Amino acid sequence: MPILDLSSLADGFNENPYPHYARLRESGPVHRVKTADGEEVWLIVGHDEARQALAHPDVLKNWQTTDLYAGRTTTTSLSTNMLRSDPPHHTRLRRLVAGEFTARRVEALRPRVRQVTDELLDAMEAAPDRRGDLISSLAVPLPMTVICELLGVPDLDRDSFRRWCNEVVAPTGKEAETTALREMSGYLAELIEAKREHPGQDLLSALIRSRNEDGDQLSPEELAGMAFLLLLAGHETAVNMLGNGVRALLAHPDQLAALRADTDGLIDGAVEEMLRYDGPVESATYRFARADLEIGGTLIEAGSPVLVSLAAADRDPARFPDPGPDVFDIRRAGQSHLAFGHGIHFCLGAPLARMEGRIAIRALLERFPDLADDPQAGPREWIPGTLIRGVKRLPVRW
Ligand code: HEM
Repeated sequence: MPILDLSSLADGFNENPYPHYARLRESGPVHRVKTADGEEVWLIVGHDEARQALAHPDVLKNWQTTDLYAGRTTTTSLSTNMLRSDPPHHTRLRRLVAGEFTARRVEALRPRVRQVTDELLDAMEAAPDRRGDLISSLAVPLPMTVICELLGVPDLDRDSFRRWCNEVVAPTGKEAETTALREMSGYLAELIEAKREHPGQDLLSALIRSRNEDGDQLSPEELAGMAFLLLLAGHETAVNMLGNGVRALLAHPDQLAALRADTDGLIDGAVEEMLRYDGPVESATYRFARADLEIGGTLIEAGSPVLVSLAAADRDPARFPDPGPDVFDIRRAGQSHLAFGHGIHFCLGAPLARMEGRIAIRALLERFPDLADDPQAGPREWIPGTLIRGVKRLPVRW
């Protein structure tokens, strides 16, 4: 089978990868491709096959369990996190955090999510020229404030945090990535020490205290890895859920009008459709095959890297036949998407993300009845890479 070089698709791919994924899918659900980093990987583009790969017991996350990749992945103390672990270590970490990151803790955040949203919209509304960038005015500060407050890091230097996160999800170079990870690691180690001495009601203090029935507890390294994962996963994704979601609504005035006319009835489905149609996580994080295995009729040899394209899977016509997968339809029902992943690594923060999405989109529409794209804005700039999908700025007027 010929190997497709994804980097040959150049800039247009970042802006709109969907036609490329569709062409690939037409010739099969699993392909050998070369990524922009020059890695040869198996790319899964079919929906059923994506589910299979994400739940396959021989498709693993922890590269350190094989010597095939020694030195090829960036490994720091922060890498010791749940999303890079396999059972039984993953099971243990997930159980410890799930015991603290409960539905009750998420529900308790609801009034605060509303309040932060309102404050951010107040600030937007005060702009004299009635225009601004939705990413920096709402999509970044809302999830950042929420995740920092949940974890109990209110005095975090937001600019450094944003810089570190950007560097980790879309590195500008090996050195810059390592520096960001080192700085973040130092910051988190100090924070955990401070929490140990002066615990609060927050999630990080709870995780420090937390023990399973058998007395099992997170080690200092596991705590730092968990805090890192929660801060990163709870932030960069939600930013682009809001950015991509609002972009989709503005590009489909009929859907926007329907949502405005019946926000109570349609908001939940609208947020799900935003996640399916143009979700923030374009591909799940890298995995590898522990043994020879078959997915979608293709042999994936032991040791091969596997990349599951959630974006491609969520546009599979076999899964989303009516209306077709490229139609943005907020009334689409009963066809669950993969934007939060699948299997044991299914997003831990999905209930929080959904709450943020529903509250923010509702408030934005209520506050700005004439919200529109800003025609004075220049061309859109896209986040590079295939992990996170979204625009760096979303200029709007109201
Ligand atoms: C719209 C927003 C979000 C989206 C689309 C999203 C998506 C995802 C996806 C696709 C995965 C699985 C990745 C993989 O299997 O490679 C994941 C895992 C995870 N997410 Fe989210 N996420 C969002 C928000 C959040 C929030 C707000 C939090 C935390 C507060 C969070 C915490 C996590 C964690 C801890 C994992 C790893 C779970 C594990 O390894 O067991 N996410 N997320």
